[in-house]
Amino acid sequence: MIKIPYWIKVHTLLVKYKQIILNIFLTLQILGMGIIVSGFYLFSNFTEVFILIAQRGNSLGTLALLLFLTTLLPGIFSRFKVFPLVGASIVLFRRQIGILMFIVAMIHSFYVSTIPAVMTGTFGPEFVTSREILGSLSLIILLPVWLTSNNISQKFFGKFWINIQRLTYFALIAIFAHVALTSYKSALIALIVLLLEIFSWMNVWFFSKKNNPSAELDS
Ligand code: HEM
Repeated sequence: MIKIPYWIKVHTLLVKYKQIILNIFLTLQILGMGIIVSGFYLFSNFTEVFILIAQRGNSLGTLALLLFLTTLLPGIFSRFKVFPLVGASIVLFRRQIGILMFIVAMIHSFYVSTIPAVMTGTFGPEFVTSREILGSLSLIILLPVWLTSNNISQKFFGKFWINIQRLTYFALIAIFAHVALTSYKSALIALIVLLLEIFSWMNVWFFSKKNNPSAELDS
């Protein structure tokens, strides 16, 4: 197992302040939902505020991408058997990172695309670009993952729950295609993680003695 020196101190701090960090995530999620639902109102009544957020649209897309990729790292680390403690640190907040990711991606898509299109009447099949179709596909694939990222759903769906969570792999492909049409840098980052995903699974299937990756980190 490859380890990062001193990470134990970082991990200890994260464990110590876990509840505070979870509260920060919750606050950001509520704030994000507020930004989404007030979008149409801002467009009509506070256009400057809307434009201010819309101008950050691409950065929000990049943030959503990075949050999404972060949620995939523990699984990759565990399959390659590297950085176990870093993986465990991310797992402490993975569910909250995933929920926040979806909300940030929604703000991104609503502000760069949906709200301006609806409010200016340029909404419909003749106006939709392939970039928007692929972006929407990513969100549609992630919707069940987002909706079931809680303890109640985990208990309700039992063993099937992990299959719902594995939809993230399909979302990764759709997200890669979406960003490949826009940003070379983002596409490169997504491609690296996509390849790491593929190689890490190949590592488990073909080179691991036991064909049983750490279910705990991959769940
Ligand atoms: C999981 C969901 C999504 C992620 C992770 C994501 C991520 C990104 C990223 C990283 C970029 C490039 C930013 C840059 O150029 O630096 C981008 C651009 C863009 N995205 Fe998304 N996106 C998502 C969903 C959507 C959806 C649902 C839509 C629309 C329906 C959308 C519409 C766009 C548009 C129009 C651009 C180009 C903006 C411009 O160049 O001005 N995205 N997205």
